[in-house]
Amino acid sequence: MSVTASDVLTEVPESVRNDAFVEVRTDASIPNNVELESDKQLQRALESWHPNYLGWWQEMGPDGFQDAEVYLRTAVGVDPTGWAKFGYVKMPDYRWGILLAPKVEGRTIPCGKHKGEPAWQEVPGEYRALLKRLIVVQGDTEPASVEQQRFLGKTAPSLYDMRNLFQVNVEEGRHLWAMVYLLVKYFGKDGREEAQALLERRSGQADNPRILGAFNERTPDWLSFFMFTYFTDRDGKMQLAALAESGFDPLSRSCRFMLTEEAHHLFVGETGVGRTIEATCAAMNKAGIKDPYDVERIRALGVVDLPLLQRKANFHMSVTRDLFGSEISSNGAEAFSSGLKGRFNEAQLSGDDHQLIDAVYAVTRVIDGKLVDEQVPALRAINCRLLDDYMADCQGGIDRWNKVIEKAGIDFKITQPYKGFNRRIGEFRGHRLSPDGRVLSEQEWAANSGDWLPNEADMAFIGSLMQPCMEAGGYASWIAPPRVGINQQNGEFEYVKIN
Ligand SMILES: [Fe+2]
Ligand SMILES: [Fe+2]
Repeated sequence: MSVTASDVLTEVPESVRNDAFVEVRTDASIPNNVELESDKQLQRALESWHPNYLGWWQEMGPDGFQDAEVYLRTAVGVDPTGWAKFGYVKMPDYRWGILLAPKVEGRTIPCGKHKGEPAWQEVPGEYRALLKRLIVVQGDTEPASVEQQRFLGKTAPSLYDMRNLFQVNVEEGRHLWAMVYLLVKYFGKDGREEAQALLERRSGQADNPRILGAFNERTPDWLSFFMFTYFTDRDGKMQLAALAESGFDPLSRSCRFMLTEEAHHLFVGETGVGRTIEATCAAMNKAGIKDPYDVERIRALGVVDLPLLQRKANFHMSVTRDLFGSEISSNGAEAFSSGLKGRFNEAQLSGDDHQLIDAVYAVTRVIDGKLVDEQVPALRAINCRLLDDYMADCQGGIDRWNKVIEKAGIDFKITQPYKGFNRRIGEFRGHRLSPDGRVLSEQEWAANSGDWLPNEADMAFIGSLMQPCMEAGGYASWIAPPRVGINQQNGEFEYVKIN
């Protein structure tokens, strides 16, 4: 794979990398750079939430590894050297801090009706409910993914991968802290109630599920985990990037720092799928198999056939696209025009007024069984635009995966299915579309969907591959070792010491 640690660092926003050091209180019970010590009421509220959080972590965090010593990165500062301190930590002792990217003096609201006014340092009263909802929905995704991934440690294909899983898990926990800080500090009693509810909902639980659909899906195996971190954490990246443009400055600063951590999650996903592809191609070549559809023989080698990878990718892409909400949305319009949420890279977008008063945007709709591009007021198509930006952002890693396949001399290409494939929310809901973008009848869909989405045999096969490999330097058959170790560690490094 061509992704290196320095590639990942380039994903860290300039503003974070270049900002001056901000003093972080690491001696405090909650490491923070928000002067928590000077706000006793807030400190007390967070300290009373903390044991409930730890209770949730023990109950719903990584199952069976709470005593393991894990080589983790802890963010102890927001400057270039401070946000990545490495060392062995037991996960329940991880120091979940509250870290905001440094304040940009003179920052103004980048979009909507209030464009150009000074960014809000306090909650704008008229938008209180909408702002709280945005924070709660973002916050809810963070513990959800920890819950979804809680059993994966037991089937880790290596200690390296196990460590990466736990790194992602503790950082999602920190992201929950980041949103809870905003709720508790800025929303009083309501905020404290919402903070508690974030610990009470459970991924996949019928009577009190997580708010968004994809976060109630199962993540039963490592291929799902890698697809999730590539595709679904990338939704996280897009949402955080849009919230980083918020006129509510504390939310913007919080999300800007979260993006630095998100980059690692995307790296785990991209390289995880990439290394799976590498192992498959190497095994095929060694066995002299040229045809990627010679599935039985390929599976007998203990690797994942490429058509199955495509079906897994199709599934994860389609459920993640639903997270963007309806393409045409009045809530989306309100979040933008109020200045609470921008577009991707809002402040850098040139050539428009950042208010979208007269602008239009093309939204594909299904009308009388045909796909039609309709010009819609751009304000109402904000979600569609973020989804389109997301799909473009997905392509880079897919291209790099395809290079691995091409280099191995195998004739196969991973592609993104059509936007409307397998959707449950928005314009394509209730319609059946093929991955190549044809509107289908129910019968055509039923006859073919097993070729497009993982079928039962696929999932059983993936399950059979999930044999743990827990000796230092060892890897399961279906995945290649990484090119570089975490923090430049050598290939034999013991990333997790299991007690
Ligand atoms: Fe997150
Ligand atoms: Fe993430």
